[in-house]
Amino acid sequence: MDLRTVGRRGGPRLDADGCVLRAFRDDDVGLVLAASADAAITRVTTVPPCADEYAARTWIRLQHARVVDRVGLPFAIADAVTDEPLGQIGLWFSGVGAGRARVGYWVPAANRGQGLASRALRALCPWAFEEGVERLELYVEPHNLASQRVAEGAGFRWEGLLRAWETIGAERRDMVMYSRLPSDPATPCRATPLTSSTTGPAPARGR
Ligand SMILES: CC(C)(COP(=O)(O)OP(=O)(O)OC[C@H]1O[C@@H](n2cnc3c(N)ncnc32)[C@H](O)[C@@H]1OP(=O)(O)O)[C@@H](O)C(=O)NCCC(=O)NCCS
Repeated sequence: MDLRTVGRRGGPRLDADGCVLRAFRDDDVGLVLAASADAAITRVTTVPPCADEYAARTWIRLQHARVVDRVGLPFAIADAVTDEPLGQIGLWFSGVGAGRARVGYWVPAANRGQGLASRALRALCPWAFEEGVERLELYVEPHNLASQRVAEGAGFRWEGLLRAWETIGAERRDMVMYSRLPSDPATPCRATPLTSSTTGPAPARGR
């Protein structure tokens, strides 16, 4: 399956149970500044640490370019009533392989624990499958239990521990691999216990 058509039927605005997934807007700067001040986000995403308003606007423009270049589809998670941006979820095609897409998400500290990432992921999955994605993948550090709860709550299945999978900061880090297929039920799928050689986060540094 060629995923170059995913999302091509117009910029989707997906309902996510009290919030929506929508394209980033130029005035979403406050969200990016909040993410930029959050080391848990900057160490595993492209959000630059300690961004000023110019850097935040540049990052938003990069998201628009990623859509045009078919690198993937970044969505702001926004309040369904006020449209205030509260977090991010992205569907990424680049570097994954035919028919497969990778999901990533972040929610700044002040907005966590309200089910935003969980609701966003549950909304994104059926849409991605309708668009033709044949396998969704999620890579999570072993210490990141909140993210693993989000993945499992949206029906992702634990597949295994990928040792020294990725460089984060200056270190190779293990990753837990999760996947969800179109045929998997959307019901929570609780994980297999993990063992890992790297349990804590590497020193902060944005990618
Ligand atoms: C991971 C992250 C996106 C979660 O966002 P969120 O909106 O707070 O997530 P939700 O509120 O939807 O759900 C969080 C779940 O984790 C659980 N949780 C939170 N902290 C936890 C912890 N320290 N240990 C175990 N579970 C934890 C919550 O209870 C909830 O699970 P439940 O729904 O089964 O009760 C957010 O913490 C974040 O942005 N972290 C930094 C960036 C990141 O790690 N992104 C993911 C990369 S794979």
